[in-house]
Amino acid sequence: MGTIAADAIRTIQDNSRGGFTVPTKGLYPYQWNWDSAFTALGIATYDVDRAWIEIESLVAGQWPSGMIPHILFRADEPSYFPGPSVWGASRGPIPSSGISQPPVLASVVFALSRTDPDRARALVPALNKWHDWWARARDPDGLGVVAVTHPWESGRDNLPDWDRPGKRIDVSGVGEYTRRDTSLVDAGMRPGKEDYDRYLALVNFGREMDWDDARIAAGSPFFVADVATTAILLRSERDLLRLSESLGGPAEEIRARIECMERGFGRLWNERAGAYCSHDLRSGELSDEVTSASFLCFYAGIFDRRAEVLGTLERISKSVKRLVPSCDPGSPSFDPVRYWRGPVWAIVNYMISLGLREAGELGWADRIREDTRALIREGGFAEYYSPLDGRACGGRDFSWTAAIWLAWGLGD
Ligand code: GLC
Repeated sequence: MGTIAADAIRTIQDNSRGGFTVPTKGLYPYQWNWDSAFTALGIATYDVDRAWIEIESLVAGQWPSGMIPHILFRADEPSYFPGPSVWGASRGPIPSSGISQPPVLASVVFALSRTDPDRARALVPALNKWHDWWARARDPDGLGVVAVTHPWESGRDNLPDWDRPGKRIDVSGVGEYTRRDTSLVDAGMRPGKEDYDRYLALVNFGREMDWDDARIAAGSPFFVADVATTAILLRSERDLLRLSESLGGPAEEIRARIECMERGFGRLWNERAGAYCSHDLRSGELSDEVTSASFLCFYAGIFDRRAEVLGTLERISKSVKRLVPSCDPGSPSFDPVRYWRGPVWAIVNYMISLGLREAGELGWADRIREDTRALIREGGFAEYYSPLDGRACGGRDFSWTAAIWLAWGLGD
């Protein structure tokens, strides 16, 4: 085994807390939803049993509604804000946040299913329940696209897409608070105060609604159909269907949800931008921001706009050294080192490249894979990287970045 692979394993093991893995020490001291899913893919390359434990420990936090939370607070870590008392979300078996995160888990279970079909089969009901929750709670009108009710629910917290919808959020009741993130990472790489006030106002709103899905869907000032979450869910549904067909499960139910999403995905198409963009379901506006999620259509098995999407990728590729920037460098909101406003994430590259490969676009798939390899080789397992010069940004020793190195077989 090469040195980078050995470092990747060490990084993940150092972040392991027994049955689960934290994203990185200090900045993120709990179990995060899609981090754990991606991390399990990496762990599976050297310890299959531990990979299943990672997945099962995440599912153990599922709420009776079917929601699997974005953070499981398994211990009280005063170094993290906002912690369990701010969330006040007590509907689940483990203290948690009150929102979810992109549902990549079923695709991970599908990828690992051959290593242990019984463990995969045992997870199908919980995964189905979670997907059904997305359909009911985040797409109550059956549009075929799912909304996020908080920027954190999208997993792409600080995207420019949230700026306009975010203006509706009343922050007057937020009051004083002390952030912890900016004492751990350069403030220039983290969200600004205005964004953070909105994040907290939405947490307060959810808590006031007692985290009741119907009340949140009806009344939240923030209800935005997200391209990445929708694409990831659609792929996960397809993978869950394959699991159900081979191992037993509610195939009919899943097929119906897939058909609804296949019909709905086109709502996110923005002709002006030549890309799939987020859709503010409160105002009816389609965002003009092209983000890395715009290229996840292939990952979702949607090939309708192939030429236009690839044209947009080509245009963007000319203005960066490393693909895929989280935000279009042509946008006034672009910032190469600020959280989700420009930097590259290895996990997003992994999904985009996989989709491009399946679409037969091998040149683009390889380019993105090679760029990811170069970023990690030169910058280590960083949280994210500048697309302009490859500079490592945010937190270090990140589990999911290390996991992508291993899962993707990026080499030594
Ligand atoms: C940030 C990211 C989110 C991730 C979390 C832990 O909040 O935006 O996607 O899950 O960090 O790594």
